This record gives sequence, structure tokens and C-alpha cells, in this order.
Amino acid sequence: AAAEKGGYETFMEKEIHEQPHAVRDTLLGRTDEDGQLILDDMRISEEELAAVDRIYVVACGTASYAGMTAKYAIEHWTRIPVEVSLAHEFRYCDPIVDERTLVVSISQSGETMDTLMAVKHARELGARTLSICNTHGSTIPRESDAVLYTHAGPEIAVASTKAFVAQITACFVLGLYLAQLRGETYADDAKQVMAELHGVPDKLESLLGTMDRVEEIARFMADSRAVLFLGRHVGYPIAMEGALKLKELAYIHAEGFAAGELKHGPIALIEPGQPVFVVVPGPDTPHELHKKVVSNIQEIRARGARTLVIAEEGDEDVVPFADEVIRVPHTSPLLQPLLTVVPLQVFALHLSTAKGLDVDQPRNLAKSVTVE
Ligand code: G6P
Repeated sequence: AAAEKGGYETFMEKEIHEQPHAVRDTLLGRTDEDGQLILDDMRISEEELAAVDRIYVVACGTASYAGMTAKYAIEHWTRIPVEVSLAHEFRYCDPIVDERTLVVSISQSGETMDTLMAVKHARELGARTLSICNTHGSTIPRESDAVLYTHAGPEIAVASTKAFVAQITACFVLGLYLAQLRGETYADDAKQVMAELHGVPDKLESLLGTMDRVEEIARFMADSRAVLFLGRHVGYPIAMEGALKLKELAYIHAEGFAAGELKHGPIALIEPGQPVFVVVPGPDTPHELHKKVVSNIQEIRARGARTLVIAEEGDEDVVPFADEVIRVPHTSPLLQPLLTVVPLQVFALHLSTAKGLDVDQPRNLAKSVTVE
């Protein structure tokens, strides 16, 4: 079993370290000589895809946060409205679906019953269905019109890590592909984004080499009763994913919020010593997002929060208000989640370990939930 874990204590730790490969392999073979994007297993015609005027993403758990993260990029690149629906809620929202709707399911296992049922329902309504999946030949890809496989390799730990970054990567590829098909692009942009995506694995590699302090912080925090996570824009789904990881692995009450929502309620939770992770956008993010998040940190710090700040290298603005600064390499704003999620995964892993819990098999959870 030790050999299977490649020298790591747990599958989860191994899988966290496989994330550079997961992104690299998911990008492999996606562009032809002319820099045009190509996908696998497309049983939808280019005409049909070019005509898509609405996208639903259906998924559960971590995969749904990959969808939420990708929504920002896909809408930005394609101008097609994207709605993210938890798969088990999809049917009940009376979704507005016709043959010009693309329903994108995201599932690591390809066997999640809730997600499968959503895909079947979408098909009944006449939608085109595309599966982003990590498991070849599994049920959801077989039930879909098209498949874009993530090449994260088998994920054994119940809590998803490498599949998540691979899912976001695959969604980016899909978004760029749709943008390219619609012609109204961005063709140059697409090449630029692909080039930047190809640079992410090296950044992940170097980031993973700097996680000692996060591990230490996790050990100190083993008796935390509640941990909050804040983010804006693409940092928001990452905050929720950070919270989910902590619930799943360390059985600690955790919540992710949109930082702007703080003043509308959650700030009442801040009392002296309350740990709060904050995912900070890069200083070059549009709409003064960076400045706004820095002032959110200032606000909670003033009320006694213990601020654990995830910020880009060279971002000095956060320093005065941070009890801890966790650095991530610089990327363009939409790609940043591929990096900022890593310290949150590492934190949850080591907190769980510090509590003596079973990292790979948390209580009450299953890797793949095949009942509705
Ligand atoms: C289960 C797992 C989660 C996972 C979710 C979706 O609940 O415990 O970690 O995110 O299913 O799984 P899928 O295989 O569809 O991505």
C-alpha cells in the first residue's frame, strides 16, 4: 500500500502533488499546428455547438465548485450565459432548456447518480449534453453527446483535489473552443490563454514546494471550532471549496462567503481569534477587486479576526492586515483558482492528520455516490 501511495502518507497527499501533471495531461493534445483547439469524443456537430445560446453546468460537491469557477471564464470568453446548478436541484428549477442549450456535466467518477439523472433530464428536454469526466467508459460520458476527458489519473482519496484542477482546466479548454467556434473571438486571446495555461503546471510545482508553513499553521489550528473562508469573483468558489475540504476532512464547521457579502451578515460571526482565510485577487484584477478584498481583510482584522491571507507573490498591500501571508505565483485573474486552491487543500489535509483522522476515508462519505 505504501508503494501505491508513491512514498506519501496518504492518497490525498499524493494526489495533491500530482496536480501539475493533472493540468498538464488535461491540456495535452488540445491544439493543432495552427493553434486551433481540438476536443475528444465530439458527437455534436460544430454547427450545433456554434449555435449554443445557453449553458447549464450540472455537478455535485467539488465538481460544482469547478463549474462555478469556470462560469466566469466561459461567460467572459464566449458571452454565452452560463448557469451552474447542483445536479440534484436541476430538475426542480424547471430549467429553461432547448436544443440550443448545452448542458455540461462535471464528474470525476462519471457515476454520481444525481449528476447522471440531471444529464438524462437534460436530454429529455432536448439539450445537447457534454460530459467533463475523469473516468473512461463510465456511465455519464456514455449517456452524453460529447465528452471532454480530464486526465488527472485515478483519484482514490474521497476528497477531490487533482480532479478539481483538471476539471477547471477542461472547462477552460471548452470555453476557448466555443469562443473559437463562434468566431467572435478572441482567437489571439485563446492562444494567449492556452500559453498561460501551459505555464500553470510549473507554477503549481513551485507552489507545492512552499507548503511547509501551511502545514504548520494547520497543526496549530487542530482544535479550531470554526473556520471562515472569503473570496470575491473567482476567489468566491475557491473559498467555498476550501470550506468544503475542511468539513469533509477535519469535521470542522467551515463556511465560504463572497467577501462583499460580509457586511450583509457574516461579519457578525467575527469575534477575537476567529480564523478567516481570505483569497486575494492579483493586484492587476479589473474593477479594483484587489483593493476591495484588502479592505475586507482590514475590516475583519479590526474586529479581531485571525487573518490567513492567500495572496500573490509581491503583493505587499495585504501585509499590514495579515497574521499569515501564504504566497501563490502570479497568473491572470481567471486562472488564479488553479493555484489558490492548493494551500486550502494542504491546510485541510494536515489539519485532518493533526486530529488523527482518516484523511483518505472521512466518515460518512463515499468517493462516488451512486444513489439519489
Ligand atoms: C462525492 C464525493 C465528493 C465529490 C462528489 C462529486 O460526494 O465525496 O468529493 O466532489 O461526490 O463526485 P463526482 O465523481 O461526480 O465528481
